Amino acid sequence: MIRHSHAGTDSSPADDSPLVEVRDVWKTYHVGEVDVPAVRGVSLTIPAGQFLAIMGPSGSGKSTFMHLLGCLDRCDSGEYRLSGTLVSRLSKRELASLRNRRLGFVFQSFNLLSRTTVLDNVALPLTYQSVSRRERRKLAAEMLDRVGLADRAMHHSNQLSGGQQQRVAIARALITRPILLLADEPTGNLDSRTGIEIMALLQQLNKESGLTIALVTHEPDIARFTQRCVTFRDGRVASDIVNHAVEDASAAAAAAHAEAELSAAV
Ligand SMILES: Nc1ncnc2c1ncn2[C@@H]1O[C@H](COP(=O)(O)OP(=O)(O)OP(=O)(O)O)[C@@H](O)[C@H]1O
Ligand SMILES: [Mg+2]
Repeated sequence: MIRHSHAGTDSSPADDSPLVEVRDVWKTYHVGEVDVPAVRGVSLTIPAGQFLAIMGPSGSGKSTFMHLLGCLDRCDSGEYRLSGTLVSRLSKRELASLRNRRLGFVFQSFNLLSRTTVLDNVALPLTYQSVSRRERRKLAAEMLDRVGLADRAMHHSNQLSGGQQQRVAIARALITRPILLLADEPTGNLDSRTGIEIMALLQQLNKESGLTIALVTHEPDIARFTQRCVTFRDGRVASDIVNHAVEDASAAAAAAHAEAELSAAV
């Protein structure tokens, strides 16, 4: 296991413990008579401020593990500490509150409300908190500005491109100011150039606000923009490698853009 230095941010726990601390976590699904062991004794530590990729073959337990990290599901055994809190001991209600207030989710399918404006989609998570409508809309507009979509606030989400929809989903995930962003194949439905642009946005959010991000991807071409790559195999961590040469996604996006312009011109 590789040791990682602790990158301090506003969202880091008061003591020196890591943001995420998972110890020997197990999860088996029961389908009829069949037991499907999905996560089999995973231990993982994520320091605050890290941007890491989770890779591995289909069925290796990546999404199941993300569900556990995201408090969408509970582990059968093992320990999960988030920001020092022992999550595995919390009640259902406490878990839901933790999930709504401290965690952000982005998925492959953008999961936006299609006939609702972009602004209201982004503001939606705040309706579960006591924030006035006016304040919700103000915060949503600020968030849209951060993801580069201020000019699309009044569009319906089905009037946007895939890349733009994913930006809206990222804005929605971040409006509650989560301490951890979980992204399960966020570039899976996008062409490679748009995928790189989404990675540029995530890199920017990670750098500017020290946001901790765990991202599942099948593509090495996407993982090269993250600081660490954890590979799952058969529900276990097969490798855990620090990326000492993190590539700059905004430079890669600019290069891809220039290349596309050039080939269009010929
Ligand atoms: N809700 C569920 N009920 C029963 N079995 C499940 C459920 N979700 C996942 N599984 C099983 O658990 C194992 C791990 O699935 P998981 O979705 O975590 O894999 P994954 O690594 O995310 O795969 P992919 O890359 O295809 O998304 C698989 O064998 C899968 O069939
Ligand atoms: Mg999956």
